Amino acid sequence: MGLKENIQSMMTQVQGLKAVNAEELEALRIKYLSKKGEITALFNEFREVPNEQKRELGQLLNQLRQETESRIAALKEQIAQSQEARAERLDLTRTPDPIALGTRHPLSLVREEIIDIFSRIGFTVAEGPEVEDDKHVYGMLNFAPEHPARDMQDTFFIEKEKGVQKPTDVLLRSHTSSVQTRVMTNQKPPIRVLCPGRVYRNEAISARAHCFFHQVEGLYIDKNVSFADLREALLYFSKEMFGPETKIRLRPSYFPFTEPSAEMDISCDLCGGKGCSFCKGTGWVEILGCGMVDPNVLEACGIDSKQYSGYAFGMGVERIANLKYRVKDLRLFSENDVRFLRQFESC
Ligand code: PHE
Repeated sequence: MGLKENIQSMMTQVQGLKAVNAEELEALRIKYLSKKGEITALFNEFREVPNEQKRELGQLLNQLRQETESRIAALKEQIAQSQEARAERLDLTRTPDPIALGTRHPLSLVREEIIDIFSRIGFTVAEGPEVEDDKHVYGMLNFAPEHPARDMQDTFFIEKEKGVQKPTDVLLRSHTSSVQTRVMTNQKPPIRVLCPGRVYRNEAISARAHCFFHQVEGLYIDKNVSFADLREALLYFSKEMFGPETKIRLRPSYFPFTEPSAEMDISCDLCGGKGCSFCKGTGWVEILGCGMVDPNVLEACGIDSKQYSGYAFGMGVERIANLKYRVKDLRLFSENDVRFLRQFESC
């Protein structure tokens, strides 16, 4: 291409130049008009052209330079105007909107209250994995293989190889007692721990059951720990949690890992124990399971059952939250509906 065509094609380029801010504009100025710019290069070429063409090409070149300068000046004006317009829209004197704060989840509130109450009598918190093995969830807790007690706590099993289902010993924990087996194996008595966390069960989802929920379990092991100590600790907890008038009762029950085992009820705080629709006329509502740690469990965890004894208890956080806040449908806790969650703002 000759110089004339180069000038003409650059003219069309220059007429279509665009820039949205001062930096882009400066880059254009450098590209075309600086000492090493493209138009300056054309002027250098111009020096070599034969005299008879100088007049025409000189005019064209000057036109190109002027056009570029005025295009850049116009863009500069445009940018300044749009900045002004933006500054007008942006009212820097306005008070900012308050930051939308979230609220604590009711289950977190209840979990922390339980931990707080027990920490005042010396319990600390221990945590463990949700994906567990058979040994820590069942085996060491005295669930014999194939024992029907396993059905009461059926859970979800994890395929070790794709497509190969049961039997597998990798599973989602069905209770946080699995954390207790880990603590007992790794620590020496005296042990006084709370094990909060999420647990899983193979349940059909309804207003009263879910395939996952939350627990806080407790374990105390020392010399001469008795059932009376267990009762005293649970009475203290119940009064702190539900008010000083609260009464408790222990009913015999069965868990493979405790002997004797009991279910604990508290007096219904809605009717004060007289009997109402909430407590189905009995005056009592069930809140947790408990018992003295079975010697087989202590031995399986390497603790001498002749020297040490202990108690354990376990409660569902959803259950306590239901009693405290009268939430009728368990599913609300995991649906993340802010209209539900906001109600606990001031709790
Ligand atoms: N692990 C039991 C459950 O999940 C609760 C429990 C804990 C009962 C400790 C007794 C003692 O149902």
